[in-house]
Amino acid sequence: MKPSTLAAQALGWIEPSTRSVTPAIYPSTTFERAPDGSYPGGHSYGRDQNPTYRQAEAVLARLESAASALLFASGMAAATTVLETLAPDAHVIAPEQMYWAMRLWLRQLSERRRIDLELVPNGDLDALRRAVKPGRTRLVWVETPANPTCAITDIAATAELAHKIGAVVVVDSTLATPVHCRPIELGADLVMHSATKQLNGHTDVLAGALVTAREDEMWDRIKRERRMRGAILGSFEAWLLLRGMRTLFLRVPASAQSAQHVAEVLQRHSMVAQSLYPGLPDHPGHAIARRQMQNGFGALVSCRVRGGEAAAKRVVATLQIFKNATSLGGIESLVEHRAAVEGPDSQVPRDLLRLSIGIEDADDLADDLVQALDKAND
Ligand SMILES: Cc1ncc(COP(=O)(O)O)c(C=O)c1O
Repeated sequence: MKPSTLAAQALGWIEPSTRSVTPAIYPSTTFERAPDGSYPGGHSYGRDQNPTYRQAEAVLARLESAASALLFASGMAAATTVLETLAPDAHVIAPEQMYWAMRLWLRQLSERRRIDLELVPNGDLDALRRAVKPGRTRLVWVETPANPTCAITDIAATAELAHKIGAVVVVDSTLATPVHCRPIELGADLVMHSATKQLNGHTDVLAGALVTAREDEMWDRIKRERRMRGAILGSFEAWLLLRGMRTLFLRVPASAQSAQHVAEVLQRHSMVAQSLYPGLPDHPGHAIARRQMQNGFGALVSCRVRGGEAAAKRVVATLQIFKNATSLGGIESLVEHRAAVEGPDSQVPRDLLRLSIGIEDADDLADDLVQALDKAND
């Protein structure tokens, strides 16, 4: 069966006692033992065990061609759990452009000497080759496409290099989703998602996920870490996430198609200095993106506005359809002046606007941007 069929039917699961087609929500935090003390239902306590999590995890693992998946309370909870499993002072390589809170958190870990952090330019394999320390580099973090610049990293080439020196490759695939990219098939060891974004897709659940290529010792440590820290979402949120994932293969390609249109319209506008989208032929990562992504290039488009920060902020204020709000991956389109959100340490250019493209009519979105850019020019 194709992934879209598996997603639409949530793997075809039918609730065994009632034969319900829609999965049940299990709010119970505890599960009864048998007289011999065993757990015949396979669950004991809700901090990491719940049939509703397991269903959502099973769907995601299948869509990612993974051995297993785990849900977390947020994308950051998933990401930080991976880092917690490393030995003290492990050498970690991460990209210069990535989700800003993750980079900030890695820097804080490094300042506390919990890890030895090295940042390299996104997708620069020569820089990665120079940065790796055989026997000491434990983890190479990849984010592709990267938030908010859409920089692309070659997952297969990165994995080949990292595996030669025994390092694990983790890909934050939030912007790609399994509809566009399956990093495990390209050699990644772990994939991380902010499921808050397109996996859920409706801007009403905070969730994260990890999926693994192998159920190995590192995966056991991740599972233990989740159990101990209780970094898990509620069963209702897990159920909403499962419902969201069932329409993934309708929503994600539709948003990507509109994003491509919007990126092309932006590229032609005289007020736009640069339209940043991996689907544009002149994007520096376009050739790699074409190789490792399918069904389009994601829902995130950024652009640099002529006239700097003031002009960029005028565009935001004049948009009618795009909502001025942070986050991405919902069915409604959002815009934000990214540097303002990231704060004084932001490395994002002050003239950059980040757009998250939803499922509205693509011409409506493009027209809205054109009218706002025209007015910013006045
Ligand atoms: C690429 C990326 N990774 C991770 C995160 C963090 O996810 P969450 O907000 O679910 O903790 C975000 C959030 O915006 C993101 O865009």
